[in-house]
Amino acid sequence: MERAHWHSRMGFVLAAAGSAVGLGNIWKFPYITGVNGGGAFVLVYLVCIALVGLPVMAAEILLGRASQKSPVGAFRVLGGGPWVLVGWLGVVCGFVILSYYSVVAGWALHYTWLAVTGQIAGLGPQGVEPLFNQLYQSGSLNLFWHAVFMIMTIAVVMGGVGKGIERWSRILMPTLFGLMVILLANSFTMDGFAEGLDFIFGFHTENLTRDGVLEALGHAFFTLSLGMGAMLTYGSYLHENDDIVSASVIISVLDTVLALTASLALFPIIFTFGLEPGTGPGLVFVSVPIALSQMTGGTFFAVVFFFLLVFAALTSAVSLLEVVTSYLIDEKLWSRSRAALVAGGVILVVGIPSALSGGTDLFGSSFAETVGRGRNWFDTFDYLATNWMLPFGGLGIALFTAWRLDDAIRHRAFLEGTNLAVFYKGWLLLLKFVVPVGIALVFLHAIGIL
Ligand code: TRP
Repeated sequence: MERAHWHSRMGFVLAAAGSAVGLGNIWKFPYITGVNGGGAFVLVYLVCIALVGLPVMAAEILLGRASQKSPVGAFRVLGGGPWVLVGWLGVVCGFVILSYYSVVAGWALHYTWLAVTGQIAGLGPQGVEPLFNQLYQSGSLNLFWHAVFMIMTIAVVMGGVGKGIERWSRILMPTLFGLMVILLANSFTMDGFAEGLDFIFGFHTENLTRDGVLEALGHAFFTLSLGMGAMLTYGSYLHENDDIVSASVIISVLDTVLALTASLALFPIIFTFGLEPGTGPGLVFVSVPIALSQMTGGTFFAVVFFFLLVFAALTSAVSLLEVVTSYLIDEKLWSRSRAALVAGGVILVVGIPSALSGGTDLFGSSFAETVGRGRNWFDTFDYLATNWMLPFGGLGIALFTAWRLDDAIRHRAFLEGTNLAVFYKGWLLLLKFVVPVGIALVFLHAIGIL
């Protein structure tokens, strides 16, 4: 069967940006910035994006385009041997991440529902605040919305990533951005703006812990969809002469700007209303409704905001499921529908403990506490997959591309279609030394050796 391809280069950039821009930017980045005390964490994160994320992004897309295969097949075709394990790790990682990602996306669905039925604007700040805990502790609500979101994701992947998702991305990504700017303008006018600005960009090293540095690196991978072959898989649907280098730059810059905009929009609200910045996963779901419940046209904006959050999550979730699906199509010769249905079904089940993390319905919280050593199931999955598996996968991708991949293939693939060829040497140098050493240092630091 002929391999599917993007309809245009623009389609690829949009789909890849759709994968990168998701809950990681709007939900996760602000909340982990809050938990890790702001400024110093943000700086480490930006350094990780520029020196580690960007080169690995180009490497992943290149491996995909050069092999025209999904992760496992790509490593087999291009180098073989033990490197195939990196591809396998990616497939496993896809299962793990999507299983809890879908639970959070389910929260966004629930809030969309609340907004559509007018239950947010009418409440006022005090009424809005407890909504999140009610949701978090309800096992049945979490399960329901998790299932709904997984079914949506499966449906899109079954239909192929082609026209539908490309066209929707073209309309909705700019809308999301526009809305962020409106929220940003709103937060400019708030009393807590200066405090919020200082929190994000003020350099307070004393707040940065060992785990904070690890988390900044892990999040650089998470937010750019790197380290598990998602960008590699999207790259495998590219044509020979598409420009890898400028695409990587555009995707990374867009993603970073969106994360910073989201934080700048949220933290002033948080400080204005005297909320705690470090409360964790509920941050966006509390602060945005509070702001919206006060604005004229709040209901309208609430509907738009949460709907777009769902859509941003959907284009990301699709890329996660696509990795597993394309593995089954490429290696097991399954049909797309069967692959998406089975993989998505299994992920739906794997996500059940995460969906029940906030309540005590299934195992009781003491079980979750034991397994996660103080973290619940949801946090544990996120911690392991994001902070350890993704950077580890990224390490494998960097080492393979820099030290194992045939130089002729690599050089030609990099130059093909780009007018940024001057960066080849620098890129290779980053991949050969800076990326591996950087990741190794962060790992050693996290386990307390450095
Ligand atoms: N980047 C997405 C976000 O920020 C999540 C995501 C999609 C992802 N595909 C991925 C994370 C692959 C890691 C690996 O929300």
